[in-house]
Amino acid sequence: ALAILIWSVLGYLVGSVPFGIVITRTLGLGDLRKVGSGNIGATNVLRTGHKGAAAATLLLDGAKGAAAVLLARWLGPEGAAQWAGLAAFVGHCYPAWLRFKGGKGVATYLGVVLALAWPVGLLCCATWAFAVAVTRISSVGALTAAASTIIWMFFMGRFDLMVIGTLLTAVIYLRHKDNLARLRAGTEPRIGRTPPPPP
Ligand code: G3P
Repeated sequence: ALAILIWSVLGYLVGSVPFGIVITRTLGLGDLRKVGSGNIGATNVLRTGHKGAAAATLLLDGAKGAAAVLLARWLGPEGAAQWAGLAAFVGHCYPAWLRFKGGKGVATYLGVVLALAWPVGLLCCATWAFAVAVTRISSVGALTAAASTIIWMFFMGRFDLMVIGTLLTAVIYLRHKDNLARLRAGTEPRIGRTPPPPP
């Protein structure tokens, strides 16, 4: 149990590196928190107009989730990988360095699920891509993919992952509170566009 706790702390530390902020600051693209939705993720980095920075944010925020899972699987005790992955995801959403105001977790969740069970991860990525292709709205992709997670886990026979899948999905929905309100109001922008200020 102590070893799993240590791997969870390591996962949290890896996950709490906010690559969107690191990359946009390094490139001198301004304060990401004052851009668009104010979120630290790839969707909001894209609103700076820098596609490469957005792609790098998506990849690195995903990679840190996958890295936490893979390191814990290779070096940690039995069962550590799931907890390290969940902790990395929590680290992205609630990083201590940003006074616990982090991202919405989508890229990190995809990285974690890909590393835990790549067939499930690929199905979640495909669900995200399909929903975005149909609607052109990033948050709809995220919310659809998140909701599909335990369905794919079920169909792939990964019952062992369904608790973690449910927790990931619940936190993604919590973190998309503003997006859900905009979707209900019909004001959620398409990818690359900027959301209106809150009423
Ligand atoms: O993954 C975040 C995305 O679903 C929404 O981002 O910046 O439009 O709130 P944003």
